[in-house]
Amino acid sequence: MSTHAIRGDVVTFRGDPFLQDPQQCLVYERDALVVLADGKIADIGPADQLGPRLPAGTEVAHYKDAIISAGFIDTHIHYPQTQMVAAFGEHLLEWLNKYTFVVEQQFAGEEHSRHIARVFLRELLRCGTTTAAIYCTVHPQSVDALFEESTRFNTRMVAGKVMMNRNAPEALLDTTERGYRESSELIQRWHGKGRQVYCITPRFAPTSTEDQLAACGALYRENPGTYVQTHLCENKDEIAWVLSLFPERKSYLDVYAHAGIVGPRSIYGHGIHLTEDDFATCHQTGAALAHCPTSNFFLGSGLFRLFDAKKAARPVRVGLGTDIGAGTSFSQLQTLNEAYKVAEMNDTKITSIQAFYLATRGSAEALYFDDRIGTVAPGYEADLVVLDPRSTPLLAMRSEYCSDIAEQLFVLMMLGDDRAVRATYVAGEMVYDRDAQGDKFRYPGQA
Ligand code: GUN
Ligand code: ZN
Repeated sequence: MSTHAIRGDVVTFRGDPFLQDPQQCLVYERDALVVLADGKIADIGPADQLGPRLPAGTEVAHYKDAIISAGFIDTHIHYPQTQMVAAFGEHLLEWLNKYTFVVEQQFAGEEHSRHIARVFLRELLRCGTTTAAIYCTVHPQSVDALFEESTRFNTRMVAGKVMMNRNAPEALLDTTERGYRESSELIQRWHGKGRQVYCITPRFAPTSTEDQLAACGALYRENPGTYVQTHLCENKDEIAWVLSLFPERKSYLDVYAHAGIVGPRSIYGHGIHLTEDDFATCHQTGAALAHCPTSNFFLGSGLFRLFDAKKAARPVRVGLGTDIGAGTSFSQLQTLNEAYKVAEMNDTKITSIQAFYLATRGSAEALYFDDRIGTVAPGYEADLVVLDPRSTPLLAMRSEYCSDIAEQLFVLMMLGDDRAVRATYVAGEMVYDRDAQGDKFRYPGQA
């Protein structure tokens, strides 16, 4: 599409507010124009200065009283679990057996995979999330369905086939050879195709033999730019199980390090019960942790120590994750609400500036995408969310009493949810319009 622009109050970040003065990291431009061209941000500046310089006839969508941010980035989510979010009453290992492994078997069916991928992608966009690191199931067709749907919206997604060769129902198991071959084929088919990125996805150490984890290491080495995602130190019983399965390893993280999958572009879900040594390893290797607070509360897994992870002497890359379906909301606003409470339980405080950084630029840094997404600035890919601080009567009333942008953002993350997302833009095109009549989703090229 030709050059067009959106207008509103822009919030974005130029640094890490966990490590630097938060006020220096925040960029807040009231009544700004964000000019979009060729899928990227071409320019940004005060509307009264930039407006008159736009070529005659440039379309401008004016979002009055709205906040324009980089699209949210979710660093840990399971699309097949969309249909089982809010499954009652179990901790991690029982929850996996009772609910997760049952529904994941349905993804042998292409129709079912396509149906859930469609619902899932739309739910992300409705919540203003434009990039996610996504677990599919063991079935290659579940990955095809997800990437096909993502291609339709032109979203930048990181996803992969789950690899498991033990300790799960027979119907969900591959073998070391089959997992390697199917993952290789999916990498050939999808990695770097448009905005799609492949992620090698061993579920977690208990469901892979040492042999399969080594095969994951080989895939990671042999295919430049691919990602790795798995789970780490989420639950005490899980950790004890891993140490009994791999008695020769010093720690849970060491199981993965031994397989050669701890490094740049590796994303570890949870990391609740980590030692100082583990944090140091993550820092040295460039591995990232995905903080998933709604999930950690829901499964009673524990409290992630965000400020330990971000310690200035050896900061670890940390992103924010919903972990649907153990997590309870697709909304990163609601996820920040719970992240705030986790921090409080640890006697620490996440400021709203740190929180919004975490959901945007911080998660982009965790995914090594901070050169292209997560920031509203010229040259960045134009993935944007337009937030409405008046989306509910309570939020509207409370917003009246905010004295500055930091307070406004805090109120938004505590009281806001999917309803606060007025529009979502992907690669410069509006893909979701909350207030539109009929189908609120638009595919690129569709009128
Ligand atoms: N550990 C292994 N698999 C899973 C999963 O699907 N969800 C969560 N939360 N933890 C896991
Ligand atoms: Zn997970």
